[in-house]
Amino acid sequence: MKVVLGLNAVFHDSSAALLVDGRLRVIAEEERPSRVRHAKRAGVDNTPILPYLAIDEALREAGLDFSRVDEVAYSFDPAARFAALGRVPGDPDIPAGDYGTPEGERRFRDFILLTGSLLEARYGRKVPVRFIPHHDCHMAAAYHSCPWDEAALLCVDGIGEDDTCTWGRWRGGALEKLGRLEYPHSLGFLWERVTQWAGLTPNLDEGTTMAMAAYGDPARFRAALRRVMEPLPDGTFRVDPALARFRAPDVKGFEELLGPRRRAQEPLLWQGTDRRHADAAAALQELTEELLCGLARRVRREAGLPNLALAGGVTLNCLGNNAVARSGAFDGVWAFPAAKDCGTAFGAACLADGKARREEWLHAYRGPAPAAGATAKALAEARLEAPAQGDGALIARSAELLEQGKVVAWFEGAPETGPRALCHRSLLADPRDAAMRDRLNREVKHRQLFRPYGPVAREEDADEFFDIPPGLRRACRFMLAAVPVKARAKSRIAAVVHGDGTTRPQLVTKSSHPRLHALLGEFGKRTGTPVLVNTSFNDREPIVDSPAHALATFQRTAIDALVLEDRLLVKG
Ligand SMILES: [Fe+2]
Repeated sequence: MKVVLGLNAVFHDSSAALLVDGRLRVIAEEERPSRVRHAKRAGVDNTPILPYLAIDEALREAGLDFSRVDEVAYSFDPAARFAALGRVPGDPDIPAGDYGTPEGERRFRDFILLTGSLLEARYGRKVPVRFIPHHDCHMAAAYHSCPWDEAALLCVDGIGEDDTCTWGRWRGGALEKLGRLEYPHSLGFLWERVTQWAGLTPNLDEGTTMAMAAYGDPARFRAALRRVMEPLPDGTFRVDPALARFRAPDVKGFEELLGPRRRAQEPLLWQGTDRRHADAAAALQELTEELLCGLARRVRREAGLPNLALAGGVTLNCLGNNAVARSGAFDGVWAFPAAKDCGTAFGAACLADGKARREEWLHAYRGPAPAAGATAKALAEARLEAPAQGDGALIARSAELLEQGKVVAWFEGAPETGPRALCHRSLLADPRDAAMRDRLNREVKHRQLFRPYGPVAREEDADEFFDIPPGLRRACRFMLAAVPVKARAKSRIAAVVHGDGTTRPQLVTKSSHPRLHALLGEFGKRTGTPVLVNTSFNDREPIVDSPAHALATFQRTAIDALVLEDRLLVKG
């Protein structure tokens, strides 16, 4: 038996993946058990914070201990990063000792190289650590989960070692890189900086920026943003480092172009006479779609293959994925559910193994399932009683509660890998009245009122409600594409129609999620609308992980009912 442990710990979204004899067994994300969003903050001194909880959970799920691990694959190459120092241009005003400075980069490299020793100190065993280029890991993860034996690959994120965007193909059993962009030409960092300018938290609130885009006019800041990041005729783009200043602590360049940054106490301007923040978000979204389509066309020409697998944090931009599919550059577009750095642990393990098998993901429930007896134990500790029930009774009662306007939390089996809750750790609600969106934002999730929600529907009902471009259907199994809601369906599912008329559906099949498929059928029988609101089971925290987290979040929030595996709890 050959066991490869993939690790992502270089920036954030730390994770561990286990490959046993070339097959993926589990991907565990550190933020779930640690309850720290994204696991940690990116920083030159933070790489020794390894995802020990995720490693332990992954080993438990696979029934292994660390003594069985043959090799560790780390999704970053510190030597390649250090070699780029000096070649990659510096930014003005980088804080002393930070990324991009010789002393900062030296510490960053040296701390990463401690990984083997840190693991030895914790587990009492020395295991070889292989460092693998970050974007190779993103692309390998996308390939090994995709539906095709050969695929074009495109990775777009903030930064790997020094690359910000890499493309290539998987052909003849190997990864072949065809092109790349280097720092500072980073679309991921542009999103972080506009998010920061809008007074939100970079690397956390980009979804809020994207949601605001629906309410803005891209014309106002179109020219300004193109001064920071200029699309080029060859399908790539170029950044003006003096304006972007990606490594400076402030956003002076963006203030020059977009006006003063928003301070924490000021309102977000997305409606009324001044929609400044929404207008900037709209221009950014428009530019992003143009750039992603330009890259896709270039990758199609160079890779010469009809299907594309996407990876990297920027490919969580659901409208961007829709634009790529509609550009017609590719017949099929696969969006990898763990597109952010958490997925690179899987890619690193695949590349280190050398004989990893590609298996299309028909679902994303790749996390470690709760230990046997965890539900009963959590209920006992919370002094709650809820008898186990058969699926029929549980589903019928849940549909009844949903029809009554209750918010029902759904907790089941192994957690989703990646940022989307796909009905193993979800909140469900009736989508027919837009007031449900407001209630969820106001009372349950405590988010801005313009934040949208996505639906879950059965795959066979999708065409009744959504306009999904050919080639993008698979992305809709994982809430990775924003697609137009059909005109005649808008009033039927008003709570999940965003300001631009789109939504981000999850499509389930009888085999991918039998209980949800049945629940949708039951809700449809009652209401004529076999669709539910689906959002993550959390309240300003990582998605719940264990039955104990589920009970705690259920008890301290305005969630009305909880399906906890085969139990049902209903408040008051
Ligand atoms: Fe990345």
